[in-house]
Amino acid sequence: MTAADGLFVTTNADELRRATAAARRQGKTVGCVPTMGALHAGHTSLIEAARRETDFVVVTVFVNPSQFAPGEDLEAYPRPIEDDLKACRDAEVNVVFLPPTESLYPEGYSTWVDVEGLSRVLEGASRPTHFRGVATIVLKLLNIVGPDAAFFGTKDYQQLALLRRMVRDLHVPVRLVPCPTVREPDGLALSSRNVYLSSKERKSALALHESLRLAEERLLSGETDLPAIATSMEQHLNSRPGVETDYAVIADADTLEVLSAPREQMVVLVAARVGKTRLIDNLPVTIPSQSE
Ligand code: PAJ
Repeated sequence: MTAADGLFVTTNADELRRATAAARRQGKTVGCVPTMGALHAGHTSLIEAARRETDFVVVTVFVNPSQFAPGEDLEAYPRPIEDDLKACRDAEVNVVFLPPTESLYPEGYSTWVDVEGLSRVLEGASRPTHFRGVATIVLKLLNIVGPDAAFFGTKDYQQLALLRRMVRDLHVPVRLVPCPTVREPDGLALSSRNVYLSSKERKSALALHESLRLAEERLLSGETDLPAIATSMEQHLNSRPGVETDYAVIADADTLEVLSAPREQMVVLVAARVGKTRLIDNLPVTIPSQSE
């Protein structure tokens, strides 16, 4: 563990627990921001929320192999650890937890968290083992850190919905705090995977946010044919060079059930491959109820 500039960096779960236990003895509340590193302004917005709402902030940086399928970008995933530590130091994080893979998945590891239903649709349909890996690692990290609150981006809308379900179903004693998506000025959602995009692909990738805005506008103007809106989104995405839509749907904001008719609380979700890079984005849409 190092304590340069007031930031503790530890690779050891017991050492981390001692640090959070000491904070608790001083009457502090603990906040946790789980990440896979390659930190950008989206991540730092979560850290800022954690600093506002809790007294002692732990950021975990771990590229979790179990949420990547064979052939996905586990090896290529960016790992700029010195930059990440600097970002944490600048954001006045208290502890960074950097566990080695073998400490979290020792030889013979065999316990998994499967959130049925929500883990099978949308992202889960394209990436069948992804959410099992996410739910498992997040529960493990929550067990190690023991935070009062944990902070997640609505950028990964389905991930947050699934984690809420896990926390409810397994009585995990933590409050999950949703944080809004941080975007570039032109609308592109910040993502650690944006570094894979060439400048041409970067332009094409704007189609994700554009298609969400297009759907939002039509929903807010009272259009009710949701499959027609989804088809227009897909056409908009596929009209850009190098873009291949995986899904473009309008779903119930809580259950993620794909809708054919509008409801009050909806979310528009897209996933598309831009060149070789798979990107996701979403926009919650509320239709104010008529009966007032
Ligand atoms: P990662 O992709 O590093 O994201 C960490 C957190 O940052 C997630 O809660 C994600 O929703 C949030 N985030 C990412 N981009 C954002 C943006 N543009 N605006 C706001 N928040 C953003 O999500 C994961 O890691 C992993 O699946 C993890 C939960 C850490 C489990 O391994």
